[in-house]
Amino acid sequence: MDTRFELINRSSTYHDLLHDIETILSNEDLFYGHGTDNAMDESMAIIMHLLQSHDPLKEDQLKASIQVGFLKKAKEILYQRIVELKPLPYITNEAYFCGKRFYVDERVLIPRSPIAELINNRFEPWIKASSLNRILEIGTGSGCIALSIASIFSDTEVVATDVSSDALDVAAMNAKAHDSDNRVKIIESDLFENVNGVFDLIITNPPYVPTEVMSDLPKEYLHEPDLALAAGDNGLDFISRILHDAPPFLSDNGIVIIEAGVASEKMEEAFNMPFIWIDFEKGGEGVALIDASSLKN
Ligand SMILES: C[S@@+](CC[C@H](N)C(=O)[O-])C[C@H]1O[C@@H](n2cnc3c(N)ncnc32)[C@H](O)[C@@H]1O
Repeated sequence: MDTRFELINRSSTYHDLLHDIETILSNEDLFYGHGTDNAMDESMAIIMHLLQSHDPLKEDQLKASIQVGFLKKAKEILYQRIVELKPLPYITNEAYFCGKRFYVDERVLIPRSPIAELINNRFEPWIKASSLNRILEIGTGSGCIALSIASIFSDTEVVATDVSSDALDVAAMNAKAHDSDNRVKIIESDLFENVNGVFDLIITNPPYVPTEVMSDLPKEYLHEPDLALAAGDNGLDFISRILHDAPPFLSDNGIVIIEAGVASEKMEEAFNMPFIWIDFEKGGEGVALIDASSLKN
């Protein structure tokens, strides 16, 4: 095992381990942004995983002695994180979204969309929850967006699509784990190809990374599926198709919520449409909302 990880041999409590892992991570050139954004939070996430805890450990829990075997497991995690540059959620196979745990592996994007905040706020003040009878999510990946919506809007029909059958296997696993396999209809579809009917909300976090940006991404991103990120020269390959094809799938008062991330400016330039760009209190940007009548004009 790599000698860089030997520092944790001196740890006897979780408090020691938390700080020793943080020191080891801080000494490396790592990219954060797949669920945590700094070495301390990532260290806590490793310890939460070792203890199978859904919540960060409190001071009194941190005083406990480390269980036998945990130092070895922690070193194995550090090896994959530092030497293989894997994002932590692919090592632990877990990611949190809207307060829920989702199984993830390299078949799906790691959940991190600011859309979580919108869901937690029941889309207020933008949408009246009572107007949502049918919701479509395009490009569901792990299923995090569709399944979180289904758990909050218990009377709403939710349809989730993805073109990747690998991703849909993961979404189906998560639907089962969340007892939602009867609540969310999962469909393999190239955008709207196999979708039927009209929806009050179409929500999507499509691939939007321009080719030039793809070639410059930190190595951690190389573990994520290309299919979830790459979106052609200007990042608009999927956004353009979605905005163009959505109108027949929208009810009269329907709304599209679309994450455009780094392609936001290009989307504004390319489409002369009255997008509303949503402000997030908990961080994140690049999510726009547009109603059916503006899209149809
Ligand atoms: C950025 S990821 C979003 C995953 C998930 N919704 C989330 O927010 O974590 C984009 C997803 O779109 C899917 N995708 C790519 N091309 C697609 C297409 N033509 N039709 C449907 N889904 C597509 C990818 O497989 C991937 O799961």
